[in-house]
Amino acid sequence: MAGQLSSDHVVGRARVIDRIWRALQKKSLRFTAERRIGKTTIMKKMAAEPRPGWRVMFIDLEAISSAEKFAEDLVTRMRPWMSVEHAGKTLFQRFLETVGGSEIAGVFKLPEFGKLGWKATLEKAFEGIFAHLHAGRSSEMLLFLFDELPYMLQKISFYDERRGSQENSALEILDTLRELQGRFPQLRMVFAGSVGLHHVLHNIRGADFAAESLNDMPLVEIAPLDSDDAIQLASQLLDFDNVRTAGVDRESVVRCLAESTDGVPFYMERVVSQLADLERPVTTEDIRRSVRRHLTDDHDHWEMEHFRSRLRIYYPGEMSDAGRQPVAMRVVASAVLDILATATEPHTVERVWQELRARLPLTERQEIPGLLGLLVKDHYLISDEDKRYSFRFPLIRTWWILAQGLNS
Ligand SMILES: Nc1ncnc2c1ncn2[C@@H]1O[C@H](COP(=O)(O)OP(=O)(O)OP(=O)(O)O)[C@@H](O)[C@H]1O
Ligand SMILES: [Mg+2]
Repeated sequence: MAGQLSSDHVVGRARVIDRIWRALQKKSLRFTAERRIGKTTIMKKMAAEPRPGWRVMFIDLEAISSAEKFAEDLVTRMRPWMSVEHAGKTLFQRFLETVGGSEIAGVFKLPEFGKLGWKATLEKAFEGIFAHLHAGRSSEMLLFLFDELPYMLQKISFYDERRGSQENSALEILDTLRELQGRFPQLRMVFAGSVGLHHVLHNIRGADFAAESLNDMPLVEIAPLDSDDAIQLASQLLDFDNVRTAGVDRESVVRCLAESTDGVPFYMERVVSQLADLERPVTTEDIRRSVRRHLTDDHDHWEMEHFRSRLRIYYPGEMSDAGRQPVAMRVVASAVLDILATATEPHTVERVWQELRARLPLTERQEIPGLLGLLVKDHYLISDEDKRYSFRFPLIRTWWILAQGLNS
């Protein structure tokens, strides 16, 4: 949900983009990544530089809060693909005749008293486009890059519930997208967003099956920049903001910037802009100090508090302790993070369990592997080939230690 840059200014990402295009030959995909890693940037680059044989549409769904608006937005965006003529009429004219909607200043509107409803309308739009492609024997593939899809679903589900509606539009949207993927072999989609789709589905009524069927859309992990790319971006950002380095060792300063921000462009940009404000040549110490200041900033300009506050929403439910007293799952999750933030080596499930029991009188060990798995899905942790867990990002780990006051 950050500001955007043109595709020419995107540093690196060639390898992951290649991998994504290759995977898309076979199936639609889901992106998984921590916030601010650069998901939107990757999708926008893919839309700006489509591979031969692909038509690509990037759609930011952040502002959409109803299924009708979703359908209208999608049709409006597909409108240019429907301007081709067939027997004296454009695809779009035929589509309007069928669904009975209208177009005002290039924006498609569903009819007030719909003949078909949003779902069938959407299907008609896809049917028209694919019928045209098939008639021309075109093997062109269509790719929709849906950014902030989980956030949209969460909002739609919230509004449905607030209105006391019997409808379950969020689930219907997912079902519709899945059906479309099944019906049209030349159609691919990418689902991405800064909120975990697994959490959103968990909270949508009856979404268990939808959650399972998403397993058919492989996950692509978007990692921070590779170290060479992070160094290149660090160097570019310093140049761009005219930040000079003190002494002769510019290389160490650039490397320090790349490493101390975990190769995440968003954090790199913020540090460089603070360095520029110093209006003097900078050292590695200035960079470390700037990162530290951001991590301890009570105004929280990096919104790191999110990593702690979201535990309340992401980890609902309870475990019980030896006295059968309920212990909130978020408290257990938080204790696991405390343990691993201060650990000097990765921990097995058993080791985490032992250390947890030293803090909380828990009895339900069987809950711990699942909890650790969820903390991995939420990018707090990673596990190695011996299934030993540690923090995924050094920066978040350092923030956690500071924010929890574990740095005695
Ligand atoms: N490869 C890159 N090269 C240069 N700058 C980048 C790159 N990737 C990201 N950035 C910078 O970092 C900012 C944040 O990236 P982006 O918006 O793509 O992240 P995101 O993962 O979509 O974030 P969110 O989780 O908030 O949606 C961008 O606006 C851009 O300035
Ligand atoms: Mg984004």
